[in-house]
Amino acid sequence: MASARRIDPHLFVIHGGTGDLARRKLFPALYRLLTDEGQHGSCHVLGVGRSDLDDVRYRELVREAFIEAGLPTDASQPWCTECLHYQQITDIETGGEVLAGRIREIEKSASLPGNRVFYLALPPQAFSGTIRSIGEAGLNHGEGWTRLVIEKPFGTDLESARELNRLVHHYFDESQVYRIDHYLGKETVQNLSVLRFANTVFESLWKRDRIRSVHITVSELLGLEGRAGYYESTGAFRDMIQNHLTQLVTLLAMEPPARFDAESIRNEKVKVLRSIKALEPDEVVLGQYTSGELDGVQVPGYLDEEGVGSVNLKLAIDNWRWKGVPFFLRTGKRMPKRMTRIVIEFRRPPISMFGSESQVTSNSNRLLITLQPDEAFHLLFEV
Ligand code: BG6
Repeated sequence: MASARRIDPHLFVIHGGTGDLARRKLFPALYRLLTDEGQHGSCHVLGVGRSDLDDVRYRELVREAFIEAGLPTDASQPWCTECLHYQQITDIETGGEVLAGRIREIEKSASLPGNRVFYLALPPQAFSGTIRSIGEAGLNHGEGWTRLVIEKPFGTDLESARELNRLVHHYFDESQVYRIDHYLGKETVQNLSVLRFANTVFESLWKRDRIRSVHITVSELLGLEGRAGYYESTGAFRDMIQNHLTQLVTLLAMEPPARFDAESIRNEKVKVLRSIKALEPDEVVLGQYTSGELDGVQVPGYLDEEGVGSVNLKLAIDNWRWKGVPFFLRTGKRMPKRMTRIVIEFRRPPISMFGSESQVTSNSNRLLITLQPDEAFHLLFEV
């Protein structure tokens, strides 16, 4: 278990405070973190959205999110009442001043020192306007520290990503900017580095001579969950592949970093990314889920949700360690079960000692790393 860390008192501002990301991920995580021993009351959360809500109604919505996340609602009530606020902003381009006023008011009444996080839990089209509005209202620098958190997709291609970066740097120093991928916060994902670099048994096997293929599968039970607008312009590629699954590829494929620090790990990841061959169209299969039944309830197909639901692709990493070892990446929504798993398939024995029909020789050795829901490592071999 993580030990309780003292978090600097601050105001956590969620742009997109009524959205799916805030409801499913941010609020349950923030609640657990901020009500940890010794933290209560020192950090406040301000949801910002277009909906016409007041603090009281917003707290009810957040408590509903806690129920969905299986958190004790009675215990969450005092936290919501004391630390949770809402500000309606109908037009972000012009709403900066209103937001700045509300922030100062909360900081004064809660005696906060002016440390602020701006978390953009927004559709990507809203990133630029929001960053500009925060900057123009002078909220990019405060009395304490100020941080900007951005999730994917960061632009839609290289040029739009560079443009967004220019805008970010117009208002914020790089040290203030956190471009995050929530997969990297999963314990089992962090464990991949420990598995590889805290053991000697795997390193001599971790290469093209011994590994036949690598399979990374992220299969989700969830469908679009009302996010058709976002998904239709983003798709599974930008929603899952270029971020979460690619991070898993780099952690599995990178060389041992010189140190276990952010910059050394980043440098090794970049080398892997530079070695990946451009994808050919016949190495990618796209799909859309159809309607069906989930837990006895009829759920609509992808097209009925007005909104590509699944992607399968083969990556080639052209470097000394991995040349010739395909990495298969798969992700899909509305799959039969929720499961994120990495399978490392080792090469087969060179000779079929026990007969070609024998099951003993047709199975490869495999290392199964299950990231969720039931975290586990399995090493399969024949005896
Ligand atoms: C998000 C995607 O980044 O990750 C969602 O936008 C997806 O579409 C989610 O459902 C999956 O994350 P997790 O942690 O639930 O596996």
